[in-house]
Amino acid sequence: MLENLATQPPDALLALIKMHAADTRTDKIDLGVGVYRTGQGDTPVFEAIKQAEQRLVDTQDSKAYLGPEGDMGFVEALMPYIFGANPTHGGRVTGMQTPGGTGAVRLAVALAKNAGAERLHLGVPSWPNHAQILNDVGIETVTFSHAREDGTADLETVLSVIDAAGPKEAVLLHGSCHNPTGIDYTADDWDAIADAIVSAGTFPIIDVAYQGLGYGMEEDAVGLRTVLAKVEEAFICYSCDKNFGMYRDRVGAFYAKAATADQLETTFSNANALARASWSMPPDHPAAAIRIILRDPEMTRVWLDELETMRERLRLVRKTLADAGTAGSVDLTPLGRQNGLFAILPVTPEHVKALREDHAIYMAGSGRINVAGLTMSNIEKFIDALAKVTG
Ligand code: LMR
Repeated sequence: MLENLATQPPDALLALIKMHAADTRTDKIDLGVGVYRTGQGDTPVFEAIKQAEQRLVDTQDSKAYLGPEGDMGFVEALMPYIFGANPTHGGRVTGMQTPGGTGAVRLAVALAKNAGAERLHLGVPSWPNHAQILNDVGIETVTFSHAREDGTADLETVLSVIDAAGPKEAVLLHGSCHNPTGIDYTADDWDAIADAIVSAGTFPIIDVAYQGLGYGMEEDAVGLRTVLAKVEEAFICYSCDKNFGMYRDRVGAFYAKAATADQLETTFSNANALARASWSMPPDHPAAAIRIILRDPEMTRVWLDELETMRERLRLVRKTLADAGTAGSVDLTPLGRQNGLFAILPVTPEHVKALREDHAIYMAGSGRINVAGLTMSNIEKFIDALAKVTG
């Protein structure tokens, strides 16, 4: 029977990790997969996580099953950071733990489909795994253009897509620090988007994978909070991979707002059933560590300080790139006003290949770079190589 299976192409982003690791050149630069790096090029475990993990080892007295919803202490402790004051919207918002943001996106899309969503609108370019998840869940996907050539978000397009989409359609939006473009909607844009969603009755799914890496935990929540304040129903997919540095531990959460408390309960009975059939229960350890941090004011302060250091470094790298102006045919100035880990450079697949082969610079084939891969000691080499290759 297995002869019926066709070999699948490796995930391009994950394949880059291996290609970079196999390169023996000492001046290689990894701008591929989205992990934060310090100015020394490391991805250390957060100090707050180290402290919480130690406390977990010292105090955890059982590893008996929890349930498909995972650690509700973790889920609830995150809510004020995501949703602000009145995080439950009067009992109309709750959540459950998921294996990473990917688990949350998968759950949200499958649930939307089961609830009657016939198609889903996705701004492109997007995180490549979005398309893979949508395809695997089997929902019709309609793409629209996320950004304009000047490096700003294409508000007119998203509004017209939402206006034309009916109540049986969903739209998947990035909450902040858009992956892969770094191009976010402004607060005014979000206002208009929320109004359009309300008048069209389209179902919003908001993916929040980088809260705190743009302008701050509060600032990066403006979009989703604006939408949630206006709509009756929404799904939020949340990842702690980046803002707690938990990448391989796989911790995220799925939240929903429903029109009534009863509908919320039914929604989560469905979400629990889907989770049970998919992964049964999420991994406990990372969520428990984050719960410990968020219930301890001192550990919370250590975490928020670490997040601020990351954010400031990303801003500095972006500013240095923007200050360089152009590199060959590439205008780097828009990167200064974009957010988070990523930016898309207007380069061809040949440019990407030449950067990798001739300069040991690894980036996604789409032209996406992870700006955290740049440090004050390699940024000049990167700009020079980009100028040589595209000039
Ligand atoms: C990325 O886009 O590089 C990250 O979100 C990692 C991943 O899972 O693709």
